[in-house]
Amino acid sequence: MELIIVTPFPDLVQSPLNTSIIKRAQDKGIVDIKVIDLREYTTDKHRQVDDYPYGGGPGMILKPEPFFRVMDAIGKDSVPGQEVILLTPQGSRYDQSKAKELAGTERLIFLCGHYKGVDERVRELATQEISIGDYVLTGGELAALVIIDSVTRLQPGVISDYDSAMSDSFEAPGLDCAYYTRPEDYRGLKVPQVLLSGNHAEIKKWRTENALRRTRERRQDLIQSIQEQVD
Ligand code: ADE
Repeated sequence: MELIIVTPFPDLVQSPLNTSIIKRAQDKGIVDIKVIDLREYTTDKHRQVDDYPYGGGPGMILKPEPFFRVMDAIGKDSVPGQEVILLTPQGSRYDQSKAKELAGTERLIFLCGHYKGVDERVRELATQEISIGDYVLTGGELAALVIIDSVTRLQPGVISDYDSAMSDSFEAPGLDCAYYTRPEDYRGLKVPQVLLSGNHAEIKKWRTENALRRTRERRQDLIQSIQEQVD
């Protein structure tokens, strides 16, 4: 799978891409991640990527030309079924089912907005617009990383323990249960006795109940949607 980030701030994404599981996925050749500096696609000597909004008002707008030039260089339609994603708080909200959908795509191109936003014509280049949540980031880079992380871990061979991935929150309905590792007693904080018992049926029951209690306490919205699926 090919993943391309188009950004005026390439440094912002380098460290997360070169660390841990995402780095290993690249080393194994499972994902190929490229970062394109939008400033390389400017033509003026100041390499300016933004400009004042027509009609006035505060904030700067990312200019359309560098984005169009990048897409010309990449080849807009060179990979069948590729998706060009504009990251914006105005996009549709990202979730695990969207992650699964995107995980099956041959190539994803991420266009990162910044400042007050992008020139409206940049939207012509995008096949979809995604927001990672109802809050405003300083730019689309962190949102692109969130999507890349969640899509990469779904590629076969990235996470060795398939069962572990499948029991994650949002794969199993509702939130995941609590987990403990050694020591058994840390500053008086004890691991629940049942987890030390070796009784697998009891452990399974405890985990199911723990997960359900957490979901009830924290995510009534999930309880409702699980109920709707059952009804
Ligand atoms: N850019 C700024 N805020 C964002 C958000 N919430 N999601 C995606 N891109 C963004």
